Amino acid sequence: MNFQSLIEKKRDGGTLSQHEIIQLVQGIVSGDVPDYQISAWAMAVYFQGMSEEETQHLAVAMCNSGDVMDLSGLNGIPVDKHSTGGVGDKTTLIAVPLTAAAGIPVAKMSGRGLGHTGGTIDKLESIPGFQVEKTLPEVIDQVNRIKAAVIAQMGNLVPADKRLYAIRDVTATVDSIPLIASSVMSKKLASGAQGIVLDVKVGRGAFMKDLAQAQQLARTMVAIGQGAGRRVVAVLSDMDQPLGRMVGNALEVKEAIDTLQGHGPADLEELSLVLAGHMVCLGGGADSLEEAIRKVNKLLKNGAGLESLQHMVEAQGGYLDLSRSDYGLPQAAEVLDVMSQQRGYITELNALAIGKAVMGLGAGRERLNDVIFAEVGVELHKKVGDLVTPQDRLATIYARDRSRLSQAAVEVEKAFTVSSTAPVACPLILDTIT
Ligand code: URA
Repeated sequence: MNFQSLIEKKRDGGTLSQHEIIQLVQGIVSGDVPDYQISAWAMAVYFQGMSEEETQHLAVAMCNSGDVMDLSGLNGIPVDKHSTGGVGDKTTLIAVPLTAAAGIPVAKMSGRGLGHTGGTIDKLESIPGFQVEKTLPEVIDQVNRIKAAVIAQMGNLVPADKRLYAIRDVTATVDSIPLIASSVMSKKLASGAQGIVLDVKVGRGAFMKDLAQAQQLARTMVAIGQGAGRRVVAVLSDMDQPLGRMVGNALEVKEAIDTLQGHGPADLEELSLVLAGHMVCLGGGADSLEEAIRKVNKLLKNGAGLESLQHMVEAQGGYLDLSRSDYGLPQAAEVLDVMSQQRGYITELNALAIGKAVMGLGAGRERLNDVIFAEVGVELHKKVGDLVTPQDRLATIYARDRSRLSQAAVEVEKAFTVSSTAPVACPLILDTIT
């Protein structure tokens, strides 16, 4: 293969054929093509874009570059969900058990957090004993018994994306809709689910900062999935402020359990029910979204969702003690309240700033091998639209040692904007693309 001709063709605005894209992906995986040629091609795509067909071919070729999970041994239509990453996003811990409680199988591979957004696997690992490594036959067995498993990525899934993403990360070519869409969807296709619900986050704490960009990404991902014969829905949700009130691994597990007990924050409950509703629809458990949401809402209210989470935790070796107020989750040694200095309405609560403050406490990692602390994080007592007066608690910081408390307190206080006029309420769910 002459890789240079593929770079030239893309640089000049041409359209690569399916055959050329398969060759390109083979070149990436085999190691025959050097990093500098791959990065030149990625930069050409960054400027020239890709047609819908090219993007589809790239996602499928990347999916086929490694192992593809065979979930045919599962009873029912397996469904999955994916979030493009946000701050305080623990919806998987709520939507997966609710979907399972509705009888729809979920065999989900999740990621670890990198940068300011959290990863579901890190959250689950804050549950004492919870095992995230499983073989495919073990996953099939677990899901056929209790309908749900959430595990870390197994096998050699999408090696083309591992190399391409690492190159994009250091060559300013991450921010390209066809490259993001094919990267995400290649992994979702390889994970084997028949139904995929995408939660595309929009706002300051998200990859996609504005709605038009997010809609374009969502449309591209839905088209890729449907082109590959899967059922796909994308929900676009706000990530200007963190979701819910807790940010940090063990704190987020606690909030997910609270929500499954019927006393979680309204925004988290709303989005979790909508995502679970779509999952149930795609899995054939309801004829309409309205019916599916009614169903999962009932399963939340009658405790069946919580029971389903407990079954999954037990099946994966974890231990929760729901008779204790901390549910047996790790507790921080140092706690500090951040107080309001002013009177007024919270008009902004910067999700990115909160995510970074929580990372500074040690809840996230800058590099894949960084050690993280399960117990640290931030609890938000006030959110956008709330009225505050001096000495009201804005937030509580949970830290491992005193040295990190004061820095985090400064950052968290700065994340709040207080003004004399109340902000206009914004919807949490901004759009749905089917
Ligand atoms: N997440 C991915 O998996 N891939 C991208 O390209 C961007 C975000």
